[in-house]
Order: sequence, then C-alpha cells, then structure tokens
Amino acid sequence: NTVGNGETPPVFEGLPFIGGLLKFTRDKPMKLMQDGYTKFGEAFTVPVVNKRITFLIGPDVAPHFFKAPDDEMSQTEVYSFNVPTFGPGVVYDVDQKVRTEQFRWFTEALKKERMKMYVPQFVMEAEQYFANWGDEGVVDFKEEFSNLITKTAARTLLGREVREQCLEEVTDLLHDLDEGMLPVSVMFPYLPIPAHFKRDKARKRLRDIFGRIIRARRASGHREEDCLQQFIDARYQKVNGGRESNEEEITGLLIAVLFAGQHTSSITTSWTGLRMVADKGNSYAKAKEEQRQIMSKHGQDLDMEVLGSMEVLHRNITEALRMNPPLVLLLRYAKQPFTATTSTGKQYLIPKGDVVAASPNFSHLLPQVFSEPDRYDPERFAPPREEDKVKPFSFIGFGGGRHGCLGSNFAYLQIKTIWSVLLRNFDFELLDPVPEPDYNSMVIGPKKCRVKYMRKKLA
Ligand code: HEM
Repeated sequence: NTVGNGETPPVFEGLPFIGGLLKFTRDKPMKLMQDGYTKFGEAFTVPVVNKRITFLIGPDVAPHFFKAPDDEMSQTEVYSFNVPTFGPGVVYDVDQKVRTEQFRWFTEALKKERMKMYVPQFVMEAEQYFANWGDEGVVDFKEEFSNLITKTAARTLLGREVREQCLEEVTDLLHDLDEGMLPVSVMFPYLPIPAHFKRDKARKRLRDIFGRIIRARRASGHREEDCLQQFIDARYQKVNGGRESNEEEITGLLIAVLFAGQHTSSITTSWTGLRMVADKGNSYAKAKEEQRQIMSKHGQDLDMEVLGSMEVLHRNITEALRMNPPLVLLLRYAKQPFTATTSTGKQYLIPKGDVVAASPNFSHLLPQVFSEPDRYDPERFAPPREEDKVKPFSFIGFGGGRHGCLGSNFAYLQIKTIWSVLLRNFDFELLDPVPEPDYNSMVIGPKKCRVKYMRKKLA
C-alpha cells in the first residue's frame, strides 16, 4: 500500500470540542457515522479532543486497516485502556514479540481440532440449563443467554474448578471488571474513581483464585480439557528465555479471552433468536425443518460433525451478526501514513498519528454491499448470491485479516448448540417488537424483549 499524493480525508467540522467527545463516546456513534458518510462518503475525519479519528467505511477503503502489519496499523495505542482489566504482562501491556507468542497460545487453544473437547461441554451445559425451564413461560433472551454462557465459558475456558467450586464468586468479580470499563475509562483508565478501585481489587482477587488452581494443577500433574490447561502448558519460544507461562500471565489471558468471547457470544445468541423468531415464516421455519431432518438422520446427538451440517442455522447466525454486530468500532493507530482508495477510485492520504476506525454496524448496512440491508435475509450468504464474498471485508462481524477473531469457530459451535437444543425442544413467540440495540454499553446487545416459550410435547 504505497502512499500517493492523495489529499487527506475531509474533516467533519462543526463538532465543538466537548460535543465531539460526547457524540463519540456516549451518544450515538451510528448517527455520527451516518452524518459523516452522507456528507463525505467512505473516508472522513472527526476531531475528538486532541486526536483525529478517521473513519473508513465499507469494503473498498478497508483492506489496509485489516491487513497491514502491526508496525503500520497498531492496536497497542487504542486498546491499551484494557491493561488494568487484563492485568500486567499480557496482550497490550507487552511488546510486539511477546504479544505475538501469547496470541499463538490463543490460536492454539481455539483452533479447530481443539473444538472437539469443548463441544460436549457446550451440549451438557445447554441441556442442563433448558431442562430447568418450565413447560411454558416468558423470558428475556439476553438475560437467559448471559446466564448460560457464563456457565459454559467458566467450564470451557476458566476450567472445571471454577465451574464447580467458585462460579458465583468469580462471576461477581468478572462483573466488577465489566463495571470498571466505562466510557471514561477508554481515555482515562487509571482515573481514581470507585468503579476503577473495584476493578483493581477484583483483578487481584482473580489472580489469587487462578494462582491457587494453577499451582494445584502444576503440582499434581492433573490435567483438564479446557483453555486454562492450554495456557498452563504454554511456553515461550523466542522470548523470555523459553520459560513457561506464569500465574499472572495465565490470569490475564483468561480475562482477555473472556472479554473477547463472553458477551459477544451471548449477545449474538440473543439476536439470532430475536431475528429468527420475528421472521416467522422463513428463517425460523427453515431452521426448525433443518433440525427435524438432522434428528431423523442422527438422532438427538450433537457433535462437531452434526453441528457442522447445520447450514441454515449457520446463516441465520451470520445474518444476525450482520445486522447486529456487538462491537461497533474496531480501532487502530496509524504508525505510518497510508493511502485509502474509495469505490470511485479517489485516493485519500491518511496521516501518521490518526486513530483509524472501521465499523461493522455501519458497513453492514450499506445497500451497495448487502441488498435491502434492513431485511433479515440469511439466504444472502448462500450461493449463488454470497453477497459477503463479492468483495473482501464486506462482512466484518468477526473483524478480518491480521487480527480477525480467533474464537469464531468456538462462537458458532456454542451458538449452534444452544439454538439446536432450543429449536428441538421449544416453540417461541416474541411478545414485543424486535428491540433496538442498547448503545450504552461497550458490547452492544438488544434492549429488553419478552419472549414466550412453549415446550414441545413428546409425540
Ligand atoms: C477478535 C468479534 C467471539 C476471541 C475479534 C474481533 C472481532 C470479534 C470483531 C476483531 C477486533 C479488531 O479487529 O480490533 C467477535 C464476535 C464473537 C466473538 C462477534 C461472537 C459472536 C469470540 C470468542 C473468543 C474470541 C468466543 C474466544 C473464546 C477473540 C480474540 C481476538 C478476537 C482472541 C483477538 C484477535 C487479534 O487481535 O489478533 N473478535 N468475537 N472471540 N476475538 Fe472474537
């Protein structure tokens, strides 16, 4: 990506100093992007306090953002507000070489072959959870799936000890970490406010709890089938003298994986249900029919192969994620200037020092990329349409390129397990319209929505 003579993107003027900040952090990032895009197109810059944020919208201007190496498009500067949450010695607190090795550990722990060990745990947790529902009732998906996925995440990622011995305490501590991440924390992660004190205390306590579990496993040689075990077994190859991972690092990596995977998955499980059930005639009926056919072939059993065959459900999930991606803004810091070329061939020069933003939410609603973007239409991902494949980086619900989501297989398998168990055992009806996204949290989920469930009668 060579730097040409292009001009810098147009600046979205007229946002007062504080107004810009408020609009950006709290109010409606979607509105800001809508205004900017309508006025200027695929690339524009918004001054926010003493920084410049350049928005790149749509697949044409996206490739450099996603593909460039870290020394050109860096995450450290924009994501380092996570450091007090994850703790010292991991991810955005370490230099590139160490981080690369730690990301190798993530990749190892989440690679496809490892999924075989997680799937039976997804199935067990989902079956147990829904066995406790009555014959009929009214639930809020967001709340239910958050409860369930707390349990699955504990078992598959944090390990059996946490799941069986101290789930409640760990859940409360993780909640304190969540609550310690406020909009203000993005700019001022160390501000001395009660939410941050609580966060720091919770982080220390988690370190104690995990420290005890890690020491016990290492001392006894006892092994488990979970992500924790992968991190305990991890060793550096080219840095830190080839030593094994330490307790501080393992704790931090577990927290990082939870932050990446827990709310994102539970929210996507909710949107999948809400969108699918609201679309009565089509995607919902098709997903039920798919389950019926699969059961007639494989019986009740759910394993990797059976889950892999659920193409209708897969597309229903992807389409929910297209319409409601939980991460609104993906950010990078331009360590080098670069050129972004728009769909009309115009070249913009993005200067060094800009914060650069891509937005799954906004990009996924561009009608030139996804036809009738406001319509829930999972078939858009099926051949021959495959609208996401026309241009790379059209669908960015899982990001893409160099730092694309490492947990997407894990997420699909978990969400499919949950929806497969539900579609087989219950019928659903929305009692409220499909809710609006709640833009007030870091991970964007649906506002409250009452859903009626009815357990299917055994034939
Ligand atoms: C990265 C979305 C589930 C682990 C990402 C990114 C997105 C994303 C958009 C890219 C961030 C960026 O470019 O700045 C999602 C969604 C999920 C999900 C929508 C659920 C539906 C998970 C799960 C895990 C996970 C379950 C782990 C168990 C990661 C990790 C990264 C990542 C480790 C960082 C990759 C890197 O920076 O190189 N995810 N994610 N994610 N995700 Fe996910």
